[in-house]
Amino acid sequence: MESCDITTFIGRSPFINASGCLCATRTMLADLETGEPAGICSKSCTLIHRSGNPEPRYWEHPNGQLTINSMGLPNLGVDYYLNYFVETDFKGWKCISLAVMSLSETRDMLNRVLSNHLVVDAIEFNLSCPNLEGKEIVAYDKPALGNLLRELEQVCRELESNTSRWPKFGIKLPPYFQIADYLDIARMLNPDWISFIHTVNSVPNALVIDIASEETVIHPKQGFGGLGGEVIKAIALANVRGFWLAFRQLGGKWSDIQIIGCGGISRGEDVFEMILAGASAVSIGSQLMIEGPGCIARMTDELIQIMHSKNYQKLSDFKGRLKVRPALT
Ligand code: DHB
Repeated sequence: MESCDITTFIGRSPFINASGCLCATRTMLADLETGEPAGICSKSCTLIHRSGNPEPRYWEHPNGQLTINSMGLPNLGVDYYLNYFVETDFKGWKCISLAVMSLSETRDMLNRVLSNHLVVDAIEFNLSCPNLEGKEIVAYDKPALGNLLRELEQVCRELESNTSRWPKFGIKLPPYFQIADYLDIARMLNPDWISFIHTVNSVPNALVIDIASEETVIHPKQGFGGLGGEVIKAIALANVRGFWLAFRQLGGKWSDIQIIGCGGISRGEDVFEMILAGASAVSIGSQLMIEGPGCIARMTDELIQIMHSKNYQKLSDFKGRLKVRPALT
């Protein structure tokens, strides 16, 4: 078994948590670390703490295949997570997720993150938070997204001299549903700046109903919330594959942009599919909430089992190599 090499650009395995899951407080992050992921990502944060939406704001289906949330960005503020990264002795990939609410607030947060003592390996800009009352998902507005990316890059460049070490920059994207979207978005990414994309965030604005009470299962936003869990895996795979193909089509440095696959991963098989579709690493959201950090060791064993059965030694033996079923002749 040990002969399989599952190292990735984030470290000794492909696993990180999806931002928002087991990462809002020190206690949660410490618990997450016990699962020995290759990397950890903070809750998407703002400059100062927010208490988020009223409860109930998260719900799991009893069959474990579906979650819905409308958390509303409860977080303890950027400094809290930076302090955590200073204090922890976690040796893996450390990523801070910044909720991009406005350019000026993001600039203030970047100023703190890109200080002389850079304590993270990566910065993820979350451009896809679905649960803010009256606020659209910026990544769905292509002209606005293009402008925002240019402005964010400029801010990063202005702050470049503040830090002795340059982190990797990435973005968290919502699911896209049109084939043309992948290329449109991929073209907006400057590969000299963006090292990774993380796709997909929860499927926005889903509605789950409890028929006994005839109520929505969560309270905020009239019960609308982000859908996660196994039911979104096919959408997540499409987005990973769509961006993989778009980056290959653009070629050159675009082929170096890594993809972190997220959405509906609960078994080693799902990880295998994500990597086959083109992901370099994966993040676990709902399953971490449902099963706890032990799911990482279980999925690692399951993934290695599949690789053995197929005689693959390392992830690059099958990464991106999805085949299309041939036409009947
Ligand atoms: C929240 C949900 C998300 O899917 C996200 O990307 C950021 C924040 C939230 O509701 O807290």
